[in-house]
Amino acid sequence: MVDFAREHKIAFVPFAPLGSAFTSGPARLAGDPAIIRVAHKHRATPAQIALAWLLMRYDRMLLIPGTSSVSNLEENMAAIEVELDDGDLDALDGVAPRADDADSPG
Ligand SMILES: NC(=O)c1ccc[n+]([C@@H]2O[C@H](COP(=O)([O-])OP(=O)(O)OC[C@H]3O[C@@H](n4cnc5c(N)ncnc54)[C@H](OP(=O)(O)O)[C@@H]3O)[C@@H](O)[C@H]2O)c1
Repeated sequence: MVDFAREHKIAFVPFAPLGSAFTSGPARLAGDPAIIRVAHKHRATPAQIALAWLLMRYDRMLLIPGTSSVSNLEENMAAIEVELDDGDLDALDGVAPRADDADSPG
């Protein structure tokens, strides 16, 4: 879908950019060894790495991470400053998709 959006210059809004609390998304990000390693390298949080990864995929990627906390809002805004390199992207490519991702709309 992102490839199609890029080809046709359509903005892309990921349905739940942190995986949504309803499916334990943020906890899963925080427990993934590859995401933790990249986060430590950048002195960032797993949520910031997830958001930075999405932003790097497409320059018309529009993120609306839901939060009820001002500190998480500020953390999420700061994700734009995280610059992932090719090694980071290779490491993050190894993150296993969720079993139900194949059916996910985003
Ligand atoms: N129109 C629709 O049908 C529809 C459906 C689904 C979603 N949406 C919208 O899409 C957006 C995102 O959906 P979503 O909230 O389900 O999923 P999400 O943004 O992927 O995840 C939100 C969850 O992530 C947590 N979180 C946010 N920032 C965090 C951080 N820095 N570190 C750790 N945890 C963090 C939040 O907890 P805290 O509150 O504790 O920060 C919340 O539990 C929302 O704006 C929502 O309204 C719309």
